[in-house]
Amino acid sequence: MNVKKDFPIFSAHPELVYLDSGATSLKPQSVIDKMSEYYTQYSANIHRGIYKLSERASQEYEDTRAVVAKYINANRSEEIVFTRNATESLNLVASTLGQEIVSKGDEVVVTIMEHHANFVPWQQLAFTVGADFKVIGINDHYELSIVEKSDRRGENTIFNISLDGIVTKKTKILAVSMVSNTLGTINPVKEIIAEAKKVSPDIITIVDAAQAVPHLKIDVHDLGCDFLAFSSHKMLGPTGVGVLWGKYDLLEKMPPYQYGGDMIRNVSIEETTFADVPHKFEAGTPNISGVIALKEAIAYLENLGFDTIRNHEKQLAMYAARRLNEEFSDEIVMYGPRHIEFMAGIISFNLKGIHPHDIAQILDENNIAVRAGHHCTMPLHSRLNIPATVRTSFYIYNNEEDVEKLVKGVKRVREILRK
Ligand SMILES: Cc1ncc(COP(=O)(O)O)c(C=O)c1O
Repeated sequence: MNVKKDFPIFSAHPELVYLDSGATSLKPQSVIDKMSEYYTQYSANIHRGIYKLSERASQEYEDTRAVVAKYINANRSEEIVFTRNATESLNLVASTLGQEIVSKGDEVVVTIMEHHANFVPWQQLAFTVGADFKVIGINDHYELSIVEKSDRRGENTIFNISLDGIVTKKTKILAVSMVSNTLGTINPVKEIIAEAKKVSPDIITIVDAAQAVPHLKIDVHDLGCDFLAFSSHKMLGPTGVGVLWGKYDLLEKMPPYQYGGDMIRNVSIEETTFADVPHKFEAGTPNISGVIALKEAIAYLENLGFDTIRNHEKQLAMYAARRLNEEFSDEIVMYGPRHIEFMAGIISFNLKGIHPHDIAQILDENNIAVRAGHHCTMPLHSRLNIPATVRTSFYIYNNEEDVEKLVKGVKRVREILRK
């Protein structure tokens, strides 16, 4: 895949090996141009002005809503709420619907591999109302312990999910990520949700798709979830824009998240009535240019096609795992599923006896950007009994040459630190 030319950062830094797309992706020129178009051609606030510039900005903003709805196969554009990021999308649900439906003695279930954004809001909700906070573990293959597979061959995989003792009739919330940002594990969320709804039909299911939407085709109908959250900046779009998709009926019943301009219908001293969904959840001036440019990011991804993207990342992740194994065999520990069908383009590892931060720092001296730390998954790192890992995450602009540079860089780390 030859797309580096579309990403201007590679012109500014021709030596850059960017392996941190799990944190945030790079942006293609078309997205940057669209943001600039807003500021140079029709920079005005939305939904307010009765003049041409504002009408154009509002139209562009609402067009993105329709594009996002289509992208994830939502029933209607009104089911798309724009937030600041995936974190805010998840907090929105926990603070509104969560507070209304979870009470003392109920259960809230998450997994040990959640990013803090899909862990802490549910934990705090449970602690506040006195509900039981339950955490699904992982097995030795770095997959959720509730997942048993009867067939591991590609598309024919059949998942057996065992929620015994985890999801019960008292469970009100199940929040699970589709792809782990640390292990790269692709979780069978569709099967997990179906199984959970059999046990507790009224359970509300929330999918954190922050690491999934940039890489995999998402269909909210097919998943069967109630809410889905993701961030624009991980999928080639601008920072400061998040998406919350929710079933319309649920969104309609939920109270507002924040109060202020744009989210009201009528305000008087005696009372305030609220705007319809989704505007009820979009208080204040949003990130207008960011939302407008998100549709360019979606156009870019759709133009490449998700089969192409997935195949590219699969090949690259397999290649990277093989090369790291070849070069560092007993010295390296990789944390992630062994079977490629359950593995996204993320490889986290440690070199025995060397601190991850030292690895990241020396790699950076060689223009290789990786992440070192706990990647906002401290419970997972505790479960693995390690304080930190080095994370490499691959995307459309990476290639085998990048992997070779990584391998060379890690060899250099070993030379320097083992002297
Ligand atoms: C799986 C997952 N969920 C949620 C988030 C939070 O995303 P944001 O920081 O854009 O809110 C991240 C960010 O790394 C993530 O990887």
